[in-house]
Amino acid sequence: MSFTHTGITEQVLTYKAPDPQPAHFEPPKDRAFFADPEKKALLSAAKEIRHLTPYIGTELVGVQLSQLTDAQKDELALLVSERGVVFFRDQDLELEQQHTLTKHYGIQDRDPNQQDPRHVTILGHNHDIRQYGDNGGEFHSDHSHELNPPAYTMLRMVRTPPTGGDTIFTSQTALYDKLSPTYKHLFDGLTAVHSSEAQYINSLNRGYQPFRAPHRVTHPLVRTHPVTKVKSLFYNPSFVIHFPELKGQESVHLLHFLRDHLHSADDLTVRWKWTPGSVAFWDNRVVAHRAVPGGYDPSLREGKRTAIFGEKPFLDPEGLSLSEAIDAPNGDIANAQIHQSVKLHFSNLKLA
Ligand SMILES: [Fe+2]
Repeated sequence: MSFTHTGITEQVLTYKAPDPQPAHFEPPKDRAFFADPEKKALLSAAKEIRHLTPYIGTELVGVQLSQLTDAQKDELALLVSERGVVFFRDQDLELEQQHTLTKHYGIQDRDPNQQDPRHVTILGHNHDIRQYGDNGGEFHSDHSHELNPPAYTMLRMVRTPPTGGDTIFTSQTALYDKLSPTYKHLFDGLTAVHSSEAQYINSLNRGYQPFRAPHRVTHPLVRTHPVTKVKSLFYNPSFVIHFPELKGQESVHLLHFLRDHLHSADDLTVRWKWTPGSVAFWDNRVVAHRAVPGGYDPSLREGKRTAIFGEKPFLDPEGLSLSEAIDAPNGDIANAQIHQSVKLHFSNLKLA
């Protein structure tokens, strides 16, 4: 359903977070808008393009992120928008270069628990994800409880255990596409409340000092990607707590359905095994992800995560589901060039 939390302790009652909530703002135009829809500069530089599953995840082999031209960076944003997540191995990127690369895509975002303003250090976890109050292994879209939740996130692993600590990504575009027309219609009319309260309580009870108080925001349950114009679910069990248009028990049932829909989507999921120097670059607007904890020495896993602010999530009534975008006649829809790019990318993967 959603996070369980570890209770209103003395620490929770007395702690005062130092920073105010950020106000809503319009981020710079998404760099994917500037890309060649065929992405020739980027794709021609790869020794191999591995589509890891039909719906989500592409690995570009033989590309160094540190060497990308501005045109290739823009094309990478479009590829990430379409494929959800793009992977690289054996990168020579250092932290300063990662900051610089991230800045190309927008304004640096800051997670409420993030100490360094420019990146989060991601560590390993060896806890039991089935424990009451544990929130480490659940699917989420990174701090979706913000007014401007992050668009693109880059995670570069510095050290990794020989086995364990994989990350799972699931396509919310495909999760929406697989719904019945009746559920699509129902969900198009709903909003969802995203809350950081459980995360805040659990952080304090684990000894962290979040720099912002907990809060709630309401986003559409189905959002339109500003570049591809394709609709995705925007649900995650870590932060979504209810749907204001529904009555209490209706909300509870829908939360159960959505979690089940997400957790049973093996056909819409990619699981990435990290190696030192590997990078995942994903779009939080169209994927949910989870790190798999347990079974390894957590001190062996360390990564650096950078992210940029995205737009306030919106639903465009003219937006299309993935199947509709693939089937739409060329030139028949707004921004046909971008839709053509979506078609190029998915139709040759023979979607059912
Ligand atoms: Fe995350």
